[in-house]
Amino acid sequence: MKLKSINSNVIIEPFRIRSVEPIRFTTIRERQKLLEKASWNPFLLKATDVLIDLLTDSGTGAMSSRQWAAMIESDESYAGSSSFYRFETAVRDITGFKHVIPTHQGRAAENILFSLLVRKGDVIPNNTHFDTTRAHVEHRSGQALDLIIKEGLEPLTIHPFKGNMDTVRLEETIRETLGETTGESTDEISSESQSERARKRIPVIMLTVTNNSGGGQPVSMANVREVSRIARKYGIPFFIDACRFAENSWFIKMREDGYQDKTPIDIARELFSYADGCTMSAKKDGMSNIGGYLALNDDDLARECRSLSILTEGFPTYGGMAGYDMEAVAAGLYEALDEGYLRYRIRSTEYLGEKLVDAGVSIIQPTGGHAVYIDARHMLPHIPPLQYPAWSLTNALYLTGGVRAVEIGSVMFGLQPDGTEKPAPMELVRLAIPRRVYTQSHIDYLADVVIHTYEQREKLDGYRIVAAPKVLRHFSARLEPLE
Ligand code: F0G
Repeated sequence: MKLKSINSNVIIEPFRIRSVEPIRFTTIRERQKLLEKASWNPFLLKATDVLIDLLTDSGTGAMSSRQWAAMIESDESYAGSSSFYRFETAVRDITGFKHVIPTHQGRAAENILFSLLVRKGDVIPNNTHFDTTRAHVEHRSGQALDLIIKEGLEPLTIHPFKGNMDTVRLEETIRETLGETTGESTDEISSESQSERARKRIPVIMLTVTNNSGGGQPVSMANVREVSRIARKYGIPFFIDACRFAENSWFIKMREDGYQDKTPIDIARELFSYADGCTMSAKKDGMSNIGGYLALNDDDLARECRSLSILTEGFPTYGGMAGYDMEAVAAGLYEALDEGYLRYRIRSTEYLGEKLVDAGVSIIQPTGGHAVYIDARHMLPHIPPLQYPAWSLTNALYLTGGVRAVEIGSVMFGLQPDGTEKPAPMELVRLAIPRRVYTQSHIDYLADVVIHTYEQREKLDGYRIVAAPKVLRHFSARLEPLE
């Protein structure tokens, strides 16, 4: 018998599911009441009242049997646990950075780094700051400057690396910042004192891979290299916000010349080799439910970071994590870099994107790594930006089908440090896909919910904020629909 094999390139979920969590259907009347009780803010809903939860891909993934096994083997010592050394070895192996400082999650690493580096009036360039990164910079009266390439702000423009930083503007910003402080032409300043002065006003350059606030779009290796070259020219430390480094590495493999035959781990190693350090939320491509780290090469800065970490996170060999959390991250970082996993992960996001585009829904294209981003400004032109169209669409998705998404628009980014409101550059609804959690039939259902909502788009109303805190207001704001 000469049988032919089925096409081995077919993409299915590359895992078996042996532990399940029930999810529950609700009626539209129930959801209406639940959302009203939650002050029309999906962050304030109970997860049990949500059918498909796409609020975030952070800490919401399913861990593997291997991770659980490693967790059972963990060592819970306060100082010097073997779990820490396994964690440190994994992070060093992948990033190449000399010092690894564990933190309980990504923003804790940002807190430590920015507490030490950012002073009032400093400028921090990034492709696009995520909400917590921006908040940490602004909390220290620094200026969080987004220098994304122009294609990164055009939802429908197809570009392989829409997360790239505009490196011309980066260099201009550095030169202007130098000139501003001295009044001299930059050509008149010696390169040594240029570095010193640049560092004083621009203490760090960040690059977020993939670019979460801009559609989960990747950054090319060429762009990382160029940002690194500029940072080194002016002696400014260069840090990567590495939450989704594995997904970014996969996009480089798929889309950038010269990387097709490289493994994701080799691509990741090269990417980190251009930087001086990284902040990381292991809740994303660490495949864990909690955890993070700050990794860096500079000995003096690392010493200061460790001292601060003792104050805020715990002893530097656990930094807010239990030994079993560090084990989960140590194993998870490699699982996130597995080719079979990455192929399935990126394809399932793309599959959702294709279904929505076919139905006429405008999304950021091409689809990003961890999420599909719906362009609510385009879908709901009758709702002005400061009546929060993306918020309205997010609530409508919950009402029509029990799907929870997140607004990345003017509620999240509209409030300025001086208290005024300005529309965000884009009004997006992010459908973030938790890792290894939902199956293709969930994704099909989800697409139906979005399309069903899209077909009723003219019925959607704007919202008004009734009460909100000044910082990170979207998490707890109370809103009401305008009718
Ligand atoms: N940087 C980026 C690019 C992020 O996406 C996040 C978190 C953080 C930093 C902070 O990490 O949550 O561990 O403190 N993003 C989550 C999200 C919350 O939903 O996108 P954290």
